[in-house]
Amino acid sequence: MENNSFEKIISFAKRRGFVFQSSDIYGGIGGFYDFGPLGIELRNNIKNSWWNYMVRQRDNVFGLDSSIIMNPNVWKASGHTETFSDPLSECKKCHKRFRTDHLKENNCPECKGELMESRNFNLMFRTFVGPVEDSASMAYLRPETAQGIFVNYRNILNTQRTKIPFGIAQVGKAFRNEITPGNFIFRLREFEQMEMEYFVEPGKEDEALEYWVEQRMNWYVDILGIKRENLRARKQEKDELAHYSKGCFDIEYNFPVGWSEIEGIASRGDFDLSQHQKFSGEDLNYFDDQTKEKYLPYVVEPSCGLDRTFLAVLCDAFTEVEGGRTTTTESNKEKEFLLKLNSNIAPIKVAVLPLVKNKEEITNKAKEVYNMLKKNFSCQYDETGAIGRRYRRQDEIGTPFAVTIDFDSIINDDVTLRNRDTMEQQRVKISDLTSIINEN
Ligand code: GAP
Repeated sequence: MENNSFEKIISFAKRRGFVFQSSDIYGGIGGFYDFGPLGIELRNNIKNSWWNYMVRQRDNVFGLDSSIIMNPNVWKASGHTETFSDPLSECKKCHKRFRTDHLKENNCPECKGELMESRNFNLMFRTFVGPVEDSASMAYLRPETAQGIFVNYRNILNTQRTKIPFGIAQVGKAFRNEITPGNFIFRLREFEQMEMEYFVEPGKEDEALEYWVEQRMNWYVDILGIKRENLRARKQEKDELAHYSKGCFDIEYNFPVGWSEIEGIASRGDFDLSQHQKFSGEDLNYFDDQTKEKYLPYVVEPSCGLDRTFLAVLCDAFTEVEGGRTTTTESNKEKEFLLKLNSNIAPIKVAVLPLVKNKEEITNKAKEVYNMLKKNFSCQYDETGAIGRRYRRQDEIGTPFAVTIDFDSIINDDVTLRNRDTMEQQRVKISDLTSIINEN
């Protein structure tokens, strides 16, 4: 896919209400976006499928929702206060700021002015807790959800009476004051992470790392439906590793702008627990009943970015079809967009369409079907425009099924069920609709 495809996807996402610029009417704010009616459905479906796959389908992974603002000592212990920074270059002439490692030349990419010496810029957003704004009340918006998990490690271990190996999973917002946010929702200042810390006996971390890389790749392909050829697990080079990391695989997606990371799977050793043990003075050792040994567990962490996964899903499903797929002559002339989303994550699962809108028997029947289906599925009722156009509107947002109610529906209690990808239409009884849609 080329760059112009990326532009098309971005404008499509805005036009159909998936993503809006934050505070749009005020001109926006760099690195922040809002998710509209279809965007939030898609996001929630991705989140729920992650939660189901990582937590509910496993006996030894537990869920958590920790606070965004934590005791600032957490970030001293984790190393973020000291080292969570990017190199920053500022232009002496126009005073624009850039990430030094993103610069191709030694002068300002905007005005070609001379750059000041590069310095480190800490990416954590700062705030104050309580009414006094001094250094004692300073706190940070979390730059990752992971530390909320580490500081709850002992709580989960004790309350769930679990044994090693086990995992703690969390989905939530994270904040980074990125120097150069960009590429639409790829690099944001406010974003959402889906992270899991998996605690293992030291020595078992390589096996766990291999296991999780495979599991996570399978989630993208089998559950989200991303094409395997557009994904790769790349082993990080030594000089790329984060301060805590003993080894890391990046899961990368082949975006229109090139291969880029959507998830990191890191072998973190006992770095985090030993730091928190040191800084808090609390004993975080695990006691193995059988061997009677005490140790700090090692950690393997699959850390997935929801916004980047959302973007990868959109890019992968976005298809441009030559000519018209739908039946009206006007659409035959135009190119059509088709969003080939897996049915389990599509924002709208079923569209209910009365063939005509000026026959009350038909619209009443259609509303009856709609009210029945919306108990189980996310549905949309649409009676405006020619039927071909309505199919097209649904194809564009990835709705896998369209149900059309016509004159025969009133007599026979049946409808036409249309499949988005094959455009095949089958006649089915209204009473069978829920189970047929559920099976697909
Ligand atoms: N706890 C480990 C951690 O936070 P990371 O590689 O810095 O590791 C994990 O982040 C994931 O979070 C990334 O793979 C990416 O998907 C997402 N992410 C990180 N920074 C982001 C940003 N500025 N905007 C959007 N997503 C981001």
